[in-house]
Amino acid sequence: MIIGILKAVNDARVAMVPETVAKLIGKGHEVWVEQGAGEGAFFSDETYTAVGAKVGTRAEVLKKAEVLLSIEPPSLEELRQLPAGSCVCSLFNPLVNTELAEQIRKLDIRAFSLDRIPRTTIAQSMDVLSSMASIAGYKAVLVAANILPGYLPMMMTAAGTIPPARVLVLGAGVAGLQAIATARRLGAVVEAFDVRSAVKEEVESLGAKFVEVEGAAEDQAAGGYAIEQSEDYQKRQRELIHQRGSQSDIIITTAQIPGRKAPLLVEARTVEAMRPGSVVVDLAAVSGGNCALTQNDKTIVHNGVSIVGDSNLPAKMPAHASKLFGNNLLNFILYVFQDGKDNLDMENEIVKGSLV
Ligand code: NAI
Repeated sequence: MIIGILKAVNDARVAMVPETVAKLIGKGHEVWVEQGAGEGAFFSDETYTAVGAKVGTRAEVLKKAEVLLSIEPPSLEELRQLPAGSCVCSLFNPLVNTELAEQIRKLDIRAFSLDRIPRTTIAQSMDVLSSMASIAGYKAVLVAANILPGYLPMMMTAAGTIPPARVLVLGAGVAGLQAIATARRLGAVVEAFDVRSAVKEEVESLGAKFVEVEGAAEDQAAGGYAIEQSEDYQKRQRELIHQRGSQSDIIITTAQIPGRKAPLLVEARTVEAMRPGSVVVDLAAVSGGNCALTQNDKTIVHNGVSIVGDSNLPAKMPAHASKLFGNNLLNFILYVFQDGKDNLDMENEIVKGSLV
């Protein structure tokens, strides 16, 4: 197949790094890369040509590629110009970008949304959301540590002893567990909360304390994801978070329910009860935020507390984010297109799940 890699306009990441492109070429595919596609992630055009890829203009790549790869979805205009039968792999986020998804359905192309790959064992190596969430969890702690006007670890110095910072992590999925691990590595005292009791052990194994609210509703059929909680539970949960959160120097929130608005966990009164200088990093900013005061893609200061609503932290670590994204994508391509782009197994759950 001829595979094309587009440059992202608003993102420093690239869909595939040269090392991974080499593996695609090794499997007999031809790869075309848009000029400057890897620049933001520190991969020059020469590093792509060195592994056997061809570098061309955006128009050339769009015209030639049978399978297009891009971190950002190409514009609708560009999608309309693709030859019939073309495949595009990107982050279309069709549950949120419903308008674009609707338009795509009318075109004679196949768009695969990598964010819709099911979180199953077989798809684990293709799971871009987990790779990116893990980076976001790590980076969230570093961003918070940078803003916090104090240390994270305990410091015993001749000038006095500084107690360790207290970090509260809400939601202990992929991003949350990485945030816990990172905050622990930096020496903070960490507490975590999740509605799924199954994560208690994982939280504790990372050296954090698991704080619980009795009576959470769980559903095995949700495939390891959380489900919506009763009004009474949510009230008790917010009370506990208020109590623990007002004692914390940093709150990292990562709670999500797929396809829904993010659950509101941190109320304005909790932020107002935190010490000035404290930090909230809300990873769920794009889906409405877990904190009542979060503004998407902005950092605001409320009563001296910084609230970070950065919804693309992986782009702030573009080299490794691109490497992991590209590895996931390579596994996806080799699996989904194993019999060529015109012979897809439409009954396969990975194909069905990701096809827009
Ligand atoms: P995940 O589904 O693995 O984890 C979410 C966790 O939240 C689950 O353990 C779930 O049980 C928990 N949860 C759900 N409702 C809850 C509630 N009411 N109270 C407490 N816990 C609750 O998701 P993942 O992959 O870790 O992603 C987490 C969030 O980070 C998502 O909102 C995702 O969109 C976001 N994200 C943000 C990025 C950024 O740069 N800001 C980058 C990547 C992901």
